Amino acid sequence: MTEKQWDHEHGIVSGVCLPGDQESNILSLRPTQLSEYIGQSDVVETLKIAIEAGRLRNEPIDHVLFHGPPGLGKTTLAHIIANEMGRGIIITSGPALEKGGDLIGILTHLEEGDVLFVDEIHRIPKSVEEFLYPAMEDYAVDFVFDKGIHARTHRYRLNRFVMVGATTRVGLLSAPLRDRFGIFRNLDFYSEEHLVEIVIRSALLLDVEIDDSGAQELSKRSRGTPRIVNRLLKRVRDYAQVKADGRITQETVHSALTLEGVDEIGLTNLDRQYIKTIIDFYKGGPVGIEAIAATLQEETDTLVDVIEPYLLKIGYIVRTSSGRKVSEAGFKHLGYRFQGNIFA
Ligand code: ADE
Repeated sequence: MTEKQWDHEHGIVSGVCLPGDQESNILSLRPTQLSEYIGQSDVVETLKIAIEAGRLRNEPIDHVLFHGPPGLGKTTLAHIIANEMGRGIIITSGPALEKGGDLIGILTHLEEGDVLFVDEIHRIPKSVEEFLYPAMEDYAVDFVFDKGIHARTHRYRLNRFVMVGATTRVGLLSAPLRDRFGIFRNLDFYSEEHLVEIVIRSALLLDVEIDDSGAQELSKRSRGTPRIVNRLLKRVRDYAQVKADGRITQETVHSALTLEGVDEIGLTNLDRQYIKTIIDFYKGGPVGIEAIAATLQEETDTLVDVIEPYLLKIGYIVRTSSGRKVSEAGFKHLGYRFQGNIFA
């Protein structure tokens, strides 16, 4: 697979050819093939079928949209799709596509079957999105010359490509854009069992010894997220090397992650501050997200995209029409005791 990066300043595609993609991916711990991918079995099966069918018909697969919280494998799957099809991948993101010209430059440089990966696709400006419609549907861009009665259009044919979009906020995508994706899949949080498999595979690639209790403890503290389990594995590896005998066990995970502020169910300082803010300043809610963000001095987007999805998943907070509320489990986790129907 060839990974190409679009250079917005110079309007060129710079390509880095990775031999079988082995080197960069061993370092990044990302699987390169669907057969290596752990978890999300329905999504993997959908992709296997689409890729095999595309191969049999000798045509690119339908455009793919992945949505779900950060760190669950959207970018990894885009790379895998390109790799499995033996094609290149061009990587860009919604906010990087400021003008129509940015997108047209990329589209006209795509080779037959290339994957165009657009991260944070919900942040594409409306004016740029318009160019995507004919590109995705007819593999064409329409140029308009002159104005008014002299207006003429010229249709420029593109190579057939596969658009892979990723978003943490599928609700912000316009219906016309959403409808142009033939494959539309949600990535969900991973089970502890799958995270154990992922962390054992990663430890093998990093050549670090880990026992079952260590793998389980890391998985329990990783908020259902492969990116987090791999990041914490690296922190614990450092800790084990410096403070112990280099082996990762339940004890080393506990000590290393306590130091990192990651508690026994994987909540970070920011997660706890978020819950505590609602309790201390807003009596447990309901309270609007903007008010929480202002009190915490954090970006609303960070709270909505990064903090809230897992807290909602484990039921520590609930979203109501009048705002966010902390649940009984959320109160208890932070050590507040229930007195009558009031927590203190
Ligand atoms: N590394 C990160 N995510 C992974 C996954 N889903 N399967 C295998 N290895 C991974």
